[in-house]
Amino acid sequence: MQTIAVANHKGGTGKTATTHNLGVVLAREYGLRVLLVDTDPQASLTGACGVQDEMAPQETPGRARFLKQVFSLAEVLGGAKPGHVTMKDVLVDLGDHLRICPSDAALASTAVGLAARLQREYVLKKALATVAPDYDVCLVDCPPDQGLLTINALSAAQVVIVPAQPTAQDLRGLLLFVETIKTIQQDINPGLVFLGILLTFYDARLRHHKEEVEQMEKAGLPVLPVAIGRSVRVAEAAGACQPVFTYARHHPEAQHYLALAKLVAERLALPCKIQPLAETEGSLTVDEPTTQLTD
Ligand SMILES: Nc1ncnc2c1ncn2[C@@H]1O[C@H](COP(=O)(O)OP(=O)(O)OP(=O)(O)O)[C@@H](O)[C@H]1O
Ligand SMILES: [Mg+2]
Repeated sequence: MQTIAVANHKGGTGKTATTHNLGVVLAREYGLRVLLVDTDPQASLTGACGVQDEMAPQETPGRARFLKQVFSLAEVLGGAKPGHVTMKDVLVDLGDHLRICPSDAALASTAVGLAARLQREYVLKKALATVAPDYDVCLVDCPPDQGLLTINALSAAQVVIVPAQPTAQDLRGLLLFVETIKTIQQDINPGLVFLGILLTFYDARLRHHKEEVEQMEKAGLPVLPVAIGRSVRVAEAAGACQPVFTYARHHPEAQHYLALAKLVAERLALPCKIQPLAETEGSLTVDEPTTQLTD
């Protein structure tokens, strides 16, 4: 099992949407056994997958697939003391070789408790090792911070992808986050590969976006040759507990996630069982317009 952390300490850069869509495409289109791990106490990925914790208010029928999810990653990791539930026991089957280790608000106190633990940076890595033979790839959705949950994800991962918006403010924060990745590589996880920056909310028609990408490249940041544009379909899909890839399969953003999955599958040499139909042929790169601003 190869583990990919999807991380950026800035909030709202598309980490969760990337994890969800990439995971679904790798499972459905490539036949890979995919494990999604939600390490964010906000539990956005958990919710987007239709999984709610037991405290969640009753949802409209059909929106929440499993209402009584009693345990989450919080009980697996534990806090100041080791967790009392195994990773395998909290996984929720989403079909199509896809499972999720859900999060809930209790994960916030886990993060505080972990600070008192020996080997605190490796708790998630050890938990993932227990299920590694059952999966080809694991995608870890990180919270928007550089706290112990993010550090655990970066320590467990072989690869990190950093979704980022191409704006000046984001570039400053991005350079700081890249320093954190370098520190992790030096001190905790020498094998960690920084796959690159994934541009999100990107519009090649906007001059300032293009300029920011140039600035990123000048600063030596590896920018992936696939970008995700802004579309309300992505947000709508999350609201409907679906990835955009199934919600509006032929939409350009769904196709961009398909292109991202292709890139990831190739760069990581994932053991794909099937190859998707060649819809990525027309996929857009960072040099081409990628967005539909209004639909
Ligand atoms: N390509 C997109 N186009 C339009 N809206 C998007 C797109 N990607 C994500 N969104 C929406 O933007 C918001 C932030 O996205 P997302 O939750 O993926 O970011 P995040 O980095 O995980 O945020 P956080 O840091 O809070 O965890 C969400 O409401 C999501 O539905
Ligand atoms: Mg998120």
